[in-house]
Amino acid sequence: MPKISAIILAAGKGKRMKSDLPKVLHQVAGDPLIAHSLRAIQKLKISKTILVVSKKKDKIKNTLTSYPFKGISFAIQDPPLGTGHAVMTALKRNPNLKGHVLIHHGDVPFVSEETFRNLVSIHLKKKAKLTFLTTLLDQPGSYGRVTRKNRTPSGIVEFKDATPAERKIREINVGTYVVETSFLRKSLKSLSRKNVQKEYYLTDLVGQAFNSGQTTATFQTVNQNEALGVNNKEELCHMQKLIYQKRVQKLINKGVHFIGTDNVIIDSNASAGAGTTIFGPCYLLGKTKVGKNCILEPGTVLKNTQIKNKVIIKAYSYLEEAKVESGAQIGPFAHIRPKSIIGPDAKVGNFVEVKKSKIGKGSKANHLSYIGDATIGKKVNVGAGTITCNYDGYAKYPTILADGVFVGSDTQFVAPVKVGREAVIGAGSTITKDVKPYSLALSRAPQTSVKDWAKRRKKK
Ligand code: UD1
Ligand code: CA
Repeated sequence: MPKISAIILAAGKGKRMKSDLPKVLHQVAGDPLIAHSLRAIQKLKISKTILVVSKKKDKIKNTLTSYPFKGISFAIQDPPLGTGHAVMTALKRNPNLKGHVLIHHGDVPFVSEETFRNLVSIHLKKKAKLTFLTTLLDQPGSYGRVTRKNRTPSGIVEFKDATPAERKIREINVGTYVVETSFLRKSLKSLSRKNVQKEYYLTDLVGQAFNSGQTTATFQTVNQNEALGVNNKEELCHMQKLIYQKRVQKLINKGVHFIGTDNVIIDSNASAGAGTTIFGPCYLLGKTKVGKNCILEPGTVLKNTQIKNKVIIKAYSYLEEAKVESGAQIGPFAHIRPKSIIGPDAKVGNFVEVKKSKIGKGSKANHLSYIGDATIGKKVNVGAGTITCNYDGYAKYPTILADGVFVGSDTQFVAPVKVGREAVIGAGSTITKDVKPYSLALSRAPQTSVKDWAKRRKKK
């Protein structure tokens, strides 16, 4: 395969977004707009990627540092004088570019890796100077229209410059091209700004190529969504929905079952395994990984969380940077905070908060508890309303409950404190000292009873 580099156009002002943020940095489905096409393009064998950006380059560069994109360089276009001018700017900064260039509009995020590949391979197969992506739309709106002579693409007419007859054309220009670099360099020189918008139109290259007898080609995608650009907040919302739907579909193909797919939010790096059932609404955020045969009930939020197989997360539970081992059950209404590990077959029930704690195999904390900075062994029973008092206003202290400990309800552990294996804590205790293995610890005032006290009170 010959050398292919990419130029992505992202210097437009994005005025219609009504925001100071550069258009391509707006968040769509968990990533900045620009990251979507970058991700797809970089899956092709691309030697170099040039991003044409506005003066706000640093902001864009900083945002992209958290992504594993390779070989990206920036070309600042200021002022932006049109798509043709944007490509001129990129080439000026990269005088040694050779082979073919894939040019793509940074505000068109839905074009898939496969479509980029198809476009490139048609271009190479037909030995074209210029190949571009089109689609047929029932309502072609303000997109550039594709004109043809004897079926060969002969030009692109911008909507604003088009005649009424041309405006009726349904085949539109998506904004993705593959161009042979020497042809590109030469023909950009003859672009002019003689058009309604007084811009250098990249689209004019098609007419130029055709008129000078060069081979032009198109790839027409049947997926009309690939043509959708994001120019305002409404289009942003719509695009977001399409991307989430696509990710749901991908998981369905892998064998995940969805009960209600509305408001199922799946980030690009999140995944779930076959046999898992997901009820909407559900959020799989960041690098969340859900195993096989799990159940995620409605309202589950998982942020950078690892869930092994056969785990049940009951309704309205929030887990962040946590790890849940196979067979565990969480919720409903549980809050699992960072650095928590819920062991195999363990149970964390309703209104339980776990922070930076490890809960061992088969242990249970089923009701209304706070477990912070604790290490809990295997088969421990943590009774209702148990609280680890882990913070004295200055520092955090650990609570350790060894294997088989039984904690009666309404117990407070004033940390640091250790309870030995199979010890029993009587309900209602405040444990301030370590407890030896196999012993009973109890710290409550003995109960007293005053006979007929209530009767005497009534008489008064
Ligand atoms: C462009 C095409 C149109 C096509 C449509 C598809 C031209 C002349 N028209 O129109 O045929 O149907 O895209 O979405 O190319 N940009 C720069 N520098 C500039 C101008 C634009 O980097 O000086 C970038 C923008 O940030 C954007 C992309 O190029 O990412 C497209 O620019 P935009 O102004 O949105 O073009 P359209 O009017 O949509
Ligand atoms: Ca656009």
